Amino acid sequence: MPSTLKDVPGFQPHGGALELRIAGQEDISTSSREAASLPTIDVKSRRVLSDLELLAVGAVSPNRGFMTRADYEPVCREMRLSNGLPWSLPITLSATEQEAEALKTGDRAALVHEGRPVATIDVEDVFDYDPREEAELTYRTTDENHPGVAYLYSQGPYYVGGEVTVLENVFAHEFSEYRMTPFQLREKIAERGWKTVVAFQTRNPIHRAHEYLTKVALEGVDGLVIHPLVGGTKGDDIPADTRMRCYGVLMDNYYPHDRVMLSVFPAAMRYAGPREAIWHALLRKNYGMTHFIVGRDHAGVGDYYGTYDAQQIFDEFEAGELGIWPLKFEHSFFCKTCNSMASAKTCPHEKTDHVHLSGTQVRQMLTEGVEPPAEFSRPEVARILIEDARRRS
Ligand code: ADX
Repeated sequence: MPSTLKDVPGFQPHGGALELRIAGQEDISTSSREAASLPTIDVKSRRVLSDLELLAVGAVSPNRGFMTRADYEPVCREMRLSNGLPWSLPITLSATEQEAEALKTGDRAALVHEGRPVATIDVEDVFDYDPREEAELTYRTTDENHPGVAYLYSQGPYYVGGEVTVLENVFAHEFSEYRMTPFQLREKIAERGWKTVVAFQTRNPIHRAHEYLTKVALEGVDGLVIHPLVGGTKGDDIPADTRMRCYGVLMDNYYPHDRVMLSVFPAAMRYAGPREAIWHALLRKNYGMTHFIVGRDHAGVGDYYGTYDAQQIFDEFEAGELGIWPLKFEHSFFCKTCNSMASAKTCPHEKTDHVHLSGTQVRQMLTEGVEPPAEFSRPEVARILIEDARRRS
């Protein structure tokens, strides 16, 4: 049954222990049988399934389940759990009116995906919520064109809070070679003797600017974990399997294997910009990292956030309170006059000297089979992306 792991390699997880919510092998068949007679909540959302995986492996410790109102409200309003620990985004399970009516505090319910029970929840709270208020507080906008807000508005009208026991991780087979739990990653880091480790969150192929950030960051610490997000992303982001091929060729050709690891991060994207930067950092702390890269418009989408909002939000916490240190990077690019990668902080030249391509320009080039310049993207990566664009067109 679920357990609390206090004795883990490396720095302390958030709140002091890893809360593992996965059922033991021997309990799975009993619990699955029990689940058949419980009230059910139907889970279609990829985000909820990803959250279940995060809960199963302890990535969102100290959370042990979906939030009750007692945690949800201070998280939305003050970025704190009810016990005062920093936490920036709610972890919620929505239910329809009909599902909510069948639940009582103290009951156990089954979370059912495609007819199979994937988890049980010990219901502590069933509460209504204001999606617009949550959107404004967590996404800083109520605009339904924002993908995170659109998701929020599509949910059922109630939240169900309580501890969960996960019976099945439906994503276990995806990128299994790279799918390390926080405990497994901590063990690997300890084996390598790294005392300081920087995490790189990304939902994109690694272009030259990303590579630059990771390598500059690595100069100051013992190791780097490239930790691409592979939970749900919006439709026009590059699919995770294509990205994994891109990361693979970079690992093979441009990163030193004794100092760099590649592992997947199973969370779904929220596109919550600043709030998500804190969430990304806290989860990486649970995965055993000490430092976290935050560049330009981290986890942003469209024009909803200022370029450095996701860096500034870290200043709203006392030094050391988060327990993971942001490494903040200015907008980076290749400068033709410097003849190297540079940033707004280090380059004295005009913008016209900088190799800059918008997302739309890159997409168009790839669709037309044109490789972006090598100063923008390594040719090995460009070739994979062209192949992907052809496959999808
Ligand atoms: S994100 O949603 O995961 O933030 P992306 O994969 O594009 O998107 O970015 C990964 C990280 O690299 C983020 O910290 C982001 O701020 C940073 N980043 C991306 N491009 C640049 C750039 N040109 N200059 C500086 N930082 C960047």
